[in-house]
Amino acid sequence: MMDKSSSTQRYHTRIAGTGSYLPEKLLTNKDLEKLVDTDDQWIRERTGISSRHMASDEEATSDLALRASQIALREAGLDAKDLDMILVATVSPDMVMPNTACLLQQKLGAPDCMALDISAACTGFVYGISIADQFIQTGHSKNILLVGAEVLHRFVDYTDRNTCILFGDGAGACVLQRTQEGQDSTVYSTHLHADGGISHLFTLPGGGTALPFSQKVLDERLHYVRMNGREIFKHAVRTMSKACDEALTANNMSPEEVNWIIPHQANVRIMEAVAKHFGVSMDKVLNEIEDMANISAATVIVAMDRAIRDGRIQRGHNLLLTAFGAGITSGSALLKY
Ligand code: UT7
Repeated sequence: MMDKSSSTQRYHTRIAGTGSYLPEKLLTNKDLEKLVDTDDQWIRERTGISSRHMASDEEATSDLALRASQIALREAGLDAKDLDMILVATVSPDMVMPNTACLLQQKLGAPDCMALDISAACTGFVYGISIADQFIQTGHSKNILLVGAEVLHRFVDYTDRNTCILFGDGAGACVLQRTQEGQDSTVYSTHLHADGGISHLFTLPGGGTALPFSQKVLDERLHYVRMNGREIFKHAVRTMSKACDEALTANNMSPEEVNWIIPHQANVRIMEAVAKHFGVSMDKVLNEIEDMANISAATVIVAMDRAIRDGRIQRGHNLLLTAFGAGITSGSALLKY
């Protein structure tokens, strides 16, 4: 609720806790060799991926989101009842309506708080940081649960080798909280973009109002993702590098002052190109793609949570998060963890 007595005061936002969940079942490159004309070596060399997680038939996106959220809440020392808002970034919602955030709210037993989905594809989590930060800065909210969750394999065509090798399922969550006295964690700034003019490069055309479900949609496999990989690759490097440049310039910071760059986990060669742009070694870039593949809106937060868990990311570290995705959306968030 809006803190009216101090509505002109601006607050800071910190990450209070994170969590992630990857389904048990693995789909390996060897498994894909049996489905399409591909091979393990090609996939590893061109993408850095060796396996991806797959949700079970009983699991929907909100179920994965629930598992990650419970861990994030526990790490933040909070109960679902403490939440002022629930944001779920996803392109693979449980259903068209209600939104996945409302389904998650019910599963968590969270109170009557605002709950909405963010549809910005793989940039959804970075968009979510920006949205949550605005609500915390103005005093509207103190504790916001932000989740990136996907069950992408249900939208992937396992006869199309251009796309089926890339995607996996999983969820990551974090609690964004108003920074208290004595804490120096903060979101420094966020920088978001979208370029609808090139949105045709990466789409899931069927099943919406433009092309409702029909026999034609099913026959032509229009209910699956379609992508011009080579073009997307170029725009990925360009847009993430630009968004990171903006973040560093806005905060008068050099790449050396950043402890970790956490890029969208789409292709290791894209991450290497972004590192090269900044003249930093890959030692500074979180690369978790090998066993998780591209989980769209979940990749940045799952990668980040893993590094927090194993101690690579420490309190006080400067983190530069960046992502791009269908839209073509892109963005960055620079923060002190
Ligand atoms: O969240 C955003 C999601 N999208 C992305 O991030 C995609 C970004 N793009 C990429 O990651 C890369 O473009 C891909 C991994 C999709 C493809 O790698 P590439 O190095 O750009 O390959 P290419 O599309 O230029 O294809 C090179 C060759 C082609 O054969 P020819 O025409 O040279 O004979 C493809 O047909 O590799 C072939 N190819 C494959 N071969 C074995 C394409 N996919 C496969 C495959 N296995 N799975």
